[in-house]
Amino acid sequence: MASTTAAVPEVALRSGGARPMPAVGMGTAKFPAVAETTVKAVLEAVEVGYRHFDTAAMYATERPLGEALAEAVRRGLLASRKEVFVTSKLWCTQCHPQLVIRSLRESLQNLQMEYVDLYLIHWPISLKPGPAVFPVKRDDAVPFDFEGVWRAMEECHRLGLAKAIGVSNFTTSHLHKLLAAATVPPAVNQVEMNPVWQQRKLRGYCAEKGIHVAAYSPLGGQNWSGDGNAVLDSEVLAEIARARGKTVAQVALRWIYEQGVTPIVKSFSKERLKENLGIFDWGLADDDLRKIGQIPQKKIVKAAGMLFSAEGEFTSVDLADMEIVEE
Ligand SMILES: NC(=O)c1ccc[n+]([C@@H]2O[C@H](COP(=O)([O-])OP(=O)(O)OC[C@H]3O[C@@H](n4cnc5c(N)ncnc54)[C@H](OP(=O)(O)O)[C@@H]3O)[C@@H](O)[C@H]2O)c1
Repeated sequence: MASTTAAVPEVALRSGGARPMPAVGMGTAKFPAVAETTVKAVLEAVEVGYRHFDTAAMYATERPLGEALAEAVRRGLLASRKEVFVTSKLWCTQCHPQLVIRSLRESLQNLQMEYVDLYLIHWPISLKPGPAVFPVKRDDAVPFDFEGVWRAMEECHRLGLAKAIGVSNFTTSHLHKLLAAATVPPAVNQVEMNPVWQQRKLRGYCAEKGIHVAAYSPLGGQNWSGDGNAVLDSEVLAEIARARGKTVAQVALRWIYEQGVTPIVKSFSKERLKENLGIFDWGLADDDLRKIGQIPQKKIVKAAGMLFSAEGEFTSVDLADMEIVEE
């Protein structure tokens, strides 16, 4: 029941030099990453109207994303690279002042691009430099030099390698610490957000500070916790979807959009990619918003359960300083 797609609105970011961010982005995280599948999905996404793509050094999808966008330009689906908004992220092992610019240059080499539109610190967590392993060993966590790492992010911006810079998985207390050190404030905070984890406190804080919020796992994610999907299985959303002649996914994405937040949604199916763009030519009623506001809250992604292995000890950092759950 996907509705036809309307033009995708754009959101101006505070950062000078960045092109406006299209109001829905395509996520490319899929573990394990399969290059051909990613290339095919990105080309289909461009065909159906996506102009905003989200990747990260950690996802191993920078290279196929870059290849697909270059191919889209060759095929005439895009006039040039300038038509798209591309985000990538600095992984925790590179969250050290001297490694930031080098890491972005590696991402740009993978993407075959001269700049990213947005570069984010992936987590408020710094790990010993070295190869990325998953889950992360607890004793690899080291104190995060917020000021030094952010200075290097600012340098990425100054050099024109990142048109805008921001963060991901930052709580209000991480942002507070960062803002105290920042000359260029973060343009974006990308966090888990959907009708089942609404992030009211964080959104209020970001609005006050002029930080745009982007929502990852807008459909409840890829079942990483193994307990089913609280968004797509929500009876409240299903009832609204039936009444409006939309899908549950469209109701969740529309709700996020109506909060002034940009959903980053992953689908590698052409039909669902189209469906997920069908959120701009209709609206939710006050009663729908009231019902969604009452959905019990549950966060899926946590530093403790998702990123760090259960074994071992934190030898130099407190888990509480890195945790990303905030009521
Ligand atoms: N910053 C961070 O720490 C962080 C963390 C997580 C994710 N992210 C980013 O955010 C993106 C999106 O988050 P996510 O991948 O966790 O989860 P998501 O977008 O909430 O959900 C993706 C899942 O929903 C399915 N799906 C997509 N559209 C659908 C529809 N219309 N109806 C039913 N099912 C649908 C997808 O399967 P199909 O592909 O088969 O359609 C996929 O299994 C990621 O890809 C990544 O780029 C960032």
